[in-house]
Formats: sequence, structure tokens, C-alpha cells
Amino acid sequence: MKILVATDKPFAAVAVNGIKDVVESAGIKLALLEKYGEKSKLLDAVKDVEGLIVRSDIIDAEVLNAAKQLKVVVRAGAGYDNIDLATATANGVCVMNTPGQNSNAVAELVFGMTVMMARNLYNGTSGTELKGKKLGIHAFGQVGRNVARIAKGFGMEVFAFDPYCPASVMEAEGVKPITDINELYSTCQYVSLHIPATNETKKSINYALLKQMPKGAMLINTARKEVINEEELVQIMDERPDFRYVSDITPDNASVFAEKFTGRYFFTPKKMGAQTAEANINAGIAAAKQSVGFLKEGIDKFKVNK
Ligand code: 3PG
Repeated sequence: MKILVATDKPFAAVAVNGIKDVVESAGIKLALLEKYGEKSKLLDAVKDVEGLIVRSDIIDAEVLNAAKQLKVVVRAGAGYDNIDLATATANGVCVMNTPGQNSNAVAELVFGMTVMMARNLYNGTSGTELKGKKLGIHAFGQVGRNVARIAKGFGMEVFAFDPYCPASVMEAEGVKPITDINELYSTCQYVSLHIPATNETKKSINYALLKQMPKGAMLINTARKEVINEEELVQIMDERPDFRYVSDITPDNASVFAEKFTGRYFFTPKKMGAQTAEANINAGIAAAKQSVGFLKEGIDKFKVNK
């Protein structure tokens, strides 16, 4: 039996060693494919594996159909929009994620980027502080909750909107629940996005929402670029010189930002939210344990293609 770790963006070496220990001590062979670049290498490597551990690697129908022995795919992380669930289900492949394992790392990056932008990208001019400012958390899942915890340390007033999360959960974290999305955007100068990329959310962060944000607005995106209506974000930034955008992923229309909005945006070159040794260890080892648990005992806790 073989499990393949296929990560175009590799885990820290310490996490790979941990994964290896978990897999090999269960009597399963571990194969490693890192920084593979070309899809053909992935197609070749999946041919004889029963288990597959990935990050944001695209696991589409072609990959799933090439993996004839495949029984389980574990996405070491939260978002599984990179995996073709319909084909996995049709092929009888269980898909799982590892919720919560990298959420602190992503939440810390929210503040890394927010402080940097609030201080004008450290260009020597006077910036602003976060203390006393209103932060709106759009979706109160594992990352949103960590963002709330850290925001309170900064002395921010924290609000959250999440139709899938009871108000009592937010209140227990000292967060003010907001039931109307428009109210979140019209109340909060800072809005941090934590929604997954689904048919419902893609391009949902649009002009109508963003135009409501108070003066000095900052949109923080550590979710997915697909949730942003990029043309309408450009429209709002054109109209409002006070509007700023920081994102843990470079948008498709990045050249427009470079041309027009110098000093008002920041993009990581690669998705960096979960790129810490701790998050790699947590998510990678959880993925290894879940893969082994499924292959040896059929445990499918965290299955997402039910
Ligand atoms: C996630 O969905 O878990 C995060 O976006 C991290 O993704 P990554 O493992 O590709 O960095």
C-alpha cells in the first residue's frame, strides 16, 4: 500500500518527516512529489497509490481518473475547492480536509498584512493604529475565530457575519453578531474575508458591498481570489483613494493594481497563510493520520464528499 504526498508548494521538512513516521509506522509506503510544476508528473505519480495527501494542488477529473487504485484524498488544510468532488465520489474516493489545523497561521497573516498596510507599507510616513477600530469578520469558522482572538489583543471592536454560525458562538468569543451582511460592511472600516470559494460565494464580494465601507476602508483577503469581483474592486479603488486591499494571493488583474493603486495594495506572491512550520506539521500530520485511519480502519471523520 502506498500514500503519495503531492505538494507543489512543499511542507517544511520537519512536517514531511512527521508524515513519513506516521505512514511508515503503519506499514504503508510513502512517496513524495514536491514542486512538480508540470501536471504530467502528478499524473504519473498517482498511478499506483491508494492514498493522496495534497495542499492546494489541483486534483481534477484527469488526476482522479489516472489514479486507478486511489481510495482516499486528504487535503492538508481547510479549503477543498481544488478537488473535483463529483468525480471523486463517482470513483468511490473518500475526500477529507483537516479543519482547524492551519487556522492560527492564516489568522496571524491577516494581522501581518493589516498592520503593514495600516503603516503605509513602512514607507516612512505616519500610519494608523488598529486599537479602537472596527473589524468585521466575514464568516466565523476556525480562521475567523482566531482572527477575533488576535483582534481583541489589538483592542479592536469585533463584529462577525455568518449565516451558518449561531450568534451565541460569536458572543461567547466577545464578538458582536451581525445578521445583515450590508451592516457588516457599512459598520466596519476593516473587513477580513474567511468564506470558502463555492458557487454561492464566487465573485460575491462586489461593488454593492464594498462601497458601503467607512472611510479608510481596508479589505483583507486570506480566503480565495475567486470570491472577489475583481473588476468591481478596481472600480471602488478607482472611485475611493482611501480604499485599500491586502490579499494572500495575487489577483488575476494584478497589473491593473500595479498601474493605478501603488501604496494601496499588497499581494503575497504565493498563498502564504498556511506556510508556517507549525501549520505544516499540524495539517500534514493530521492528513497522514487521517489517510492511514481511512486505509486501515475505514475512518472517514472529516469526509467532505458525503
Ligand atoms: C487552506 O485552505 O487550508 C489554506 O488556504 C491553505 O492552503 P495551502 O495549504 O495551499 O497553503
